[in-house]
Amino acid sequence: MADVKAIQTVSEMHRVADQIRADGLQIGLVPTMGFLHEGHLSLIRRARRCVDRVVVSVFVNPIQFGPQEDLEAYPRDFERDRVLIGDSGGDLIYAPDAEEMYPEGYASYVDVDGLTRHLCGTSRPGHFRGVTTVVTKLFAAVKPHVAIFGQKDAQQAAVIRRMVQDLNLDVEVLVSPTIREADGLAKSSRNKYLSPEERQEASVLYQALQKAKRLVADGERRSEVVIGEMRELIERRPLAQIDYIEAVDTAHLQPVEEFSGEILLALAVQFGKARLIDNLVVQTA
Ligand code: PAF
Repeated sequence: MADVKAIQTVSEMHRVADQIRADGLQIGLVPTMGFLHEGHLSLIRRARRCVDRVVVSVFVNPIQFGPQEDLEAYPRDFERDRVLIGDSGGDLIYAPDAEEMYPEGYASYVDVDGLTRHLCGTSRPGHFRGVTTVVTKLFAAVKPHVAIFGQKDAQQAAVIRRMVQDLNLDVEVLVSPTIREADGLAKSSRNKYLSPEERQEASVLYQALQKAKRLVADGERRSEVVIGEMRELIERRPLAQIDYIEAVDTAHLQPVEEFSGEILLALAVQFGKARLIDNLVVQTA
């Protein structure tokens, strides 16, 4: 497989995107921060099935990391990513550097209200502003007809859908299922930070979500009880530090007291250097 071409400037990306569109072809974008895993590859494969040209962006976006977060340590391996992208059906990589994206004097941001208030919005102030800003800039550069995100970042997907709707962006947003390890741990670039002991304990996140699903299937409707049981299970793991466990409605991501309709159960738990998130959508009558 020949190396996939990497475009590093906005102007070149515009030129290539305009040419693809002028040829009457559809563009699909898979936005990533690189260090790809099977979850990303499933998005690229889906894009391959939907559109004529698949662009994968690889950009570790500094403005979505807080000052105490892992921007510097975030894993990077561009040559490995390039091979994986080619093998999974990607046609082009868009990999600008931080100066290209945020040159001296940069001052414009995109902020989605409401949906960003809970869950990761509470513990990562400014995170979603960074995500929505960079995704808008990626859309502007790549000009995709379709963009694909992962359900593991359920809040991110909801925020981006809201932004696309509110700003009348002409992009179809698709969300693909979470890809998991054999023991249920959601695939994530941050799993690399886990020590063998932390990695072993981290499967408790999936177990807690499955436990919640069983409780709801058995008729439990009180969020407090469901969340309490999840908390109790996770707290049995000495290396786990819970950031949040929340039950929110899928439309507005506001906390609910009773399960009714479609509920997103979402959690964030720190294991050493790795802050892991996961979620499950539960349907109730
Ligand atoms: O999900 C991610 O990897 C990032 O938040 C995204 C969407 C690529 C924006 O930097």
